[in-house]
Amino acid sequence: MNWQEFEQKSASEIMNEALDRFGERAGIASSFGLEDMVLIDLAHRSGKPFTVFTLDTGRLHEETYEIMEKTRARYGIPVRAYFPDATAVETLEREKGLFSFRESLENRKECCRIRKVEPLGRALKELDAWITGVRREQSVTRSDIQKAHEDADHPPLIKFNPLADWTEAQVNQYIQDHKIPVNALHARNYPSIGCAPCTRPIEPGEDIRAGRWWWENPEHKECGLHRPR
Ligand code: ADX
Ligand code: SF4
Repeated sequence: MNWQEFEQKSASEIMNEALDRFGERAGIASSFGLEDMVLIDLAHRSGKPFTVFTLDTGRLHEETYEIMEKTRARYGIPVRAYFPDATAVETLEREKGLFSFRESLENRKECCRIRKVEPLGRALKELDAWITGVRREQSVTRSDIQKAHEDADHPPLIKFNPLADWTEAQVNQYIQDHKIPVNALHARNYPSIGCAPCTRPIEPGEDIRAGRWWWENPEHKECGLHRPR
């Protein structure tokens, strides 16, 4: 398949094709941020069955669990949650404490590896394709992402990024037009939401991901779910 052809397609076309080709073996990866809410709505509108999965790191905000539950009810869908390996978390916390990720980039990546990347691997084992809300505009690490491609990190899966070329304004417009419920934290200046201890509100004029791992340089701000290609 020439995935390059997907560059010409719209988000809803990509969602439809992904679900036509892979059905429920295509999973929407959702942290229930604005982009993921758009993806879930697009999938719902396609009228086709679809799968949503989430990586519950154990360190999410209460507001994230609220929107997770609202989404489940509104769309009548199950949400497949994947948790970190219990022994790995127990060992990490006993050896390095509850906030090891503040101490060094290495420690931060270790925590993300245990709480996000390893569970992602398990989630993807049950799928043939995954669909994410990453956008090129979001960060220096994402400026080159394609709308559809073979996922070299998780072969033989196909990765779809239907919103790759959407702007923040387009995302907000879609949410408004379709009256989609969102994480209550967005109204409190959290445009991008990850784990609670690693996310803070942004100041006016700051970059949308400025509140994520705010103590790190922009080129490091990836948790390993999406490796720059
Ligand atoms: S992150 O890598 O910095 O955490 P970001 O919050 O920008 O990612 O989200 C980008 C995309 O990654 C989301 O649109 C979603 O598809 C996926 N994603 C991020 N966090 C999770 C999560 N906890 N569970 C499932 N998918 C996630
Ligand atoms: Fe750990 Fe923070 Fe990464 Fe969440 S975002 S997995 S708390 S380092």
